[in-house]
Amino acid sequence: MIVREGDARQLIKELDASSIDAVYFDPPFNTGRKFRLVPNSNLGFDDIHPTDQEYINLIEPVLEQSKNYLKKEGSFFFHISAEEMMIPHMLCLKYFKKVQPIFWNRSRSKNNVKNKLGSVVDVLFWCSNVDKPKFNLVYQPLDSYYAENSYKNTDSRGNYALGHIVYSRTQATQNQDRHYTFSHNGRSWKPEYGWRLDKKDLDKLVSENRIHFPKTEKAKPYRKIYMHESSGKPCTNLWDDLHSIAMGSELRKYPTQKPISLIQRVIEMSTNEGDTILDPMAGSGTTGLAAHISNRKCIMFENNRDAVNIIKENIESFIKM
Ligand SMILES: C[S@@+](CC[C@H](N)C(=O)[O-])C[C@H]1O[C@@H](n2cnc3c(N)ncnc32)[C@H](O)[C@@H]1O
Repeated sequence: MIVREGDARQLIKELDASSIDAVYFDPPFNTGRKFRLVPNSNLGFDDIHPTDQEYINLIEPVLEQSKNYLKKEGSFFFHISAEEMMIPHMLCLKYFKKVQPIFWNRSRSKNNVKNKLGSVVDVLFWCSNVDKPKFNLVYQPLDSYYAENSYKNTDSRGNYALGHIVYSRTQATQNQDRHYTFSHNGRSWKPEYGWRLDKKDLDKLVSENRIHFPKTEKAKPYRKIYMHESSGKPCTNLWDDLHSIAMGSELRKYPTQKPISLIQRVIEMSTNEGDTILDPMAGSGTTGLAAHISNRKCIMFENNRDAVNIIKENIESFIKM
């Protein structure tokens, strides 16, 4: 874990070339506000930029330099509020080949604002320079709609959804071991693009009653995915199951502090154990804690000395290095 006090725009120039697997960038949002932990405290930062160009001058160098320090299959996440997303979106498109928005519904509370629409969504622009950046499937808890619509089948073990066991045309395999004929109760299948499983594994699943055989004569078999064994539903680009610090159980030590679970999802989705995450404007160091829990390395920059002290305090109490 590396923590450096200073201006991110200078410090990133000292990073080794192609040394970073993912960046979580959560800069000031250009709100025109001062953020303090509690009124009249000094702890916090000013998010006041007299012109949009001055705001661009703060964030653009971090994106511009990414071509030097980010690995080829690496990901860059730009965290911003929906209200302020236009400038970051434009800059992400300028520096990256692929930009996918993830919408984070950070608040579930009832809306007490009466004179405008309540603001509950942040956007994480997931940027990369290759079509397929490093990616691990991550899961969200099952919601009742998904559970009812996907786990429609039932047997003595419980409700189950259907998982594909044959490849589609775009996934066709050249592996000849996956082009076998499979027979069961007088019916036979030999999928045109191959099976996703070896014959031995398929036989085992059949013997355990974990294969669903549709009644329709020509329909293909499926793997049974039981609701009680499922990790949840594969994440979509709407993250509505993780809520802001104000609503959760984490101790709030810094204004604009993000929940550990949010950053954990970002880094588990885009990196593997042992990989290195960079947080150029780290605030209270949530990224460092998330990286530690998920067995990743982390480099953090922050120009506010009070925030750097919180990061060090957090590391000492949480991580005991
Ligand atoms: C939105 S906060 C980050 C919050 C953080 N993700 C957390 O969970 O605590 C943005 C941070 O950027 C820092 N910052 C602003 N300008 C900076 C710069 N030029 N270099 C480094 N840090 C900067 C601010 O002091 C502030 O702590």
